[in-house]
Amino acid sequence: STGTGRGDDGALRVAGLDVRDLAREHGTPAYVVDEADLRTRARAYATAFAEAFAPEAGLAGADVYYAGKAFLSVAVARWVHEEGLRVDTATGGELAVALRAGVPGEAIGLHGNNKSDAELTTALEHGVGRVVVDSLPEIERVAAVAERLGVVAPVMVRVTTGVHAGGHQFIATAHEDQKFGLSLTSGAARKAVDEILARPGLDLIGLHSHIGSQILDLAGFEVAARAVLGLRAEVAAQTGHLMPEVDLGGGYGIAYTGHEGPAPTPAQIATTLADVVRRTCAELGTPVPRISVEPGRSIVGPSTLTLYTVGTVKDVALDDGGRRTYVSVDGGMSDNIRPALYEAEYTAALASRASDAEPVRARVVGKHCESGDIVVHGVALPGDVHDGDLLAVPATGAYGRSMASNYNLVPRPPVLAVRDGAARVLVRRETIEDLLALDEG
Ligand code: LLP
Repeated sequence: STGTGRGDDGALRVAGLDVRDLAREHGTPAYVVDEADLRTRARAYATAFAEAFAPEAGLAGADVYYAGKAFLSVAVARWVHEEGLRVDTATGGELAVALRAGVPGEAIGLHGNNKSDAELTTALEHGVGRVVVDSLPEIERVAAVAERLGVVAPVMVRVTTGVHAGGHQFIATAHEDQKFGLSLTSGAARKAVDEILARPGLDLIGLHSHIGSQILDLAGFEVAARAVLGLRAEVAAQTGHLMPEVDLGGGYGIAYTGHEGPAPTPAQIATTLADVVRRTCAELGTPVPRISVEPGRSIVGPSTLTLYTVGTVKDVALDDGGRRTYVSVDGGMSDNIRPALYEAEYTAALASRASDAEPVRARVVGKHCESGDIVVHGVALPGDVHDGDLLAVPATGAYGRSMASNYNLVPRPPVLAVRDGAARVLVRRETIEDLLALDEG
């Protein structure tokens, strides 16, 4: 009763539960998380990094922070923490969820290129393990909040290394002409280091690098690691301050359709990073730092599918003489903006039954008032797909619910967790009453 598979009559089952039962009880659209799958991925990261970075391997240990921006709810924060991970947050909202889940402050990190004083205050009041500083003006602001609270703030400096990686320009974050981090080549990162070292209310614990997202090739991480380790060695030589930690960010890619090439496993990621850290520090003649990483997508993405109900099916003639079947579902760009925003590719399968009907070229579209409201650009679906059928779109756990909107005043779908044949609601379905309640008339 684990994983996703087909029952005897051909209907899809998630962790032992028939999706028709899920749809009957909870409605569609719905995000369906396989709890065991998510936990296994989290645990795999914790184990792989603990092994690869063990002192016996000549390294100084590692921490894995789950990047909550991919999807965060109280249960998910609790699960990943139970499986040995820490939690990376980027806003006061994510921080509040992690804290409500009982994740201890020291196991939480706070990111953001424009943190508010309120966010910094909450973070430091709860003793977060690190605030990742993203700009020079922020240094003064963190110092002021720390002073007001009478605490010393543990900070990291987010460094942009110039490494370009990741599929889409809006996702890539480490080249120079973008809003994140402090540039290595321009000297801004070094300036931040010196300013932090000059302030007794700030404890400079490390450097941070995040190069992009949905990255399948690990080479970019190695280049970025060498660059930040080089800056760490330079700072140690010139100031005597050897930063104990280096964070190498998140961004490990996953399979959406199966056509993107193999996704790196946690073990491959950990051993690749361990090798480059060990070699680079030996070359530089500096002791190895404790390493951390921040995967989000690769933990939660593959654990979840979205269940939709088919409505209108329309056959359209194409210019090339062929035909396309437009299959409309009861959600769309409000529950998955990624195809519209990044031209992200997904696949879909008929989930409520088996079919031997001849496959047709299909496009799965949503119910929103935009022609770009596409869920799956091109997929072969059985030619007899009709209204009332359930469709499943896999690998929607990351940046689906977390980037969902109420476009066209569509209520956002629930997040359901399935484990050992039983479902439970992690985040309930929004209702039209919820939306009306926000409207003060
Ligand atoms: N750490 C930092 C500092 C980040 O900015 C991110 C993602 C992560 C970790 C986690 O990266 P992951 O392992 O999930 O790739 N909305 C886009 C992705 C934006 C990623 C932003 N930062 C998408 O749907 O593809």
